[in-house]
Amino acid sequence: MTPTELPATLPFGLSPLEEGLYRHLSEHVSSEADLLASYRELAEAPDTPEAARYLIRLIVEDEERHHRLFHEMTAALGNQWAPSSDAAPDLPSGPRSQALEEVTIRFLAAEREDQKQLRALRREMRPFRNTTLWTLLVELMEHDTAKHIHLLTFVRDHAARSNRVPPPPSSSPPT
Ligand SMILES: [Fe+2]
Ligand SMILES: [Fe+2]
Repeated sequence: MTPTELPATLPFGLSPLEEGLYRHLSEHVSSEADLLASYRELAEAPDTPEAARYLIRLIVEDEERHHRLFHEMTAALGNQWAPSSDAAPDLPSGPRSQALEEVTIRFLAAEREDQKQLRALRREMRPFRNTTLWTLLVELMEHDTAKHIHLLTFVRDHAARSNRVPPPPSSSPPT
């Protein structure tokens, strides 16, 4: 059994909704595992051209991550009865975190700047479009940057919103 395979039995105590979700996630994990194995085979096959091998390896990296994320979501569903260090964390409400909000705003600005630079770089690479993989690789980085912006926006909004629990009273006056 590989470390990312799931136990055959359902975790104890799931609600009907959680049980259905657990089954669907488990099915998805195993169908992705088959797809991942096929990608690895293609990436390693000696008659696959080198550029295709290189690109398929990028897909393999993504699929490995998808597989891990699905495993972590599934582990989170059973976490209450079978605690697992692999489980994706919950999203509890807590005090608003201004420090996290501020730092994510700075990272968002850096990612937007990166987005502009990548776009400019892609234009500069136009003459090499049909002879190299560079344009495609920069386009992929633009997709990644859009993903980073999506992630940071979520973190920022959550840090700003999580204010249902009031912060503990400060013992010293603010400076
Ligand atoms: Fe996937
Ligand atoms: Fe980034």
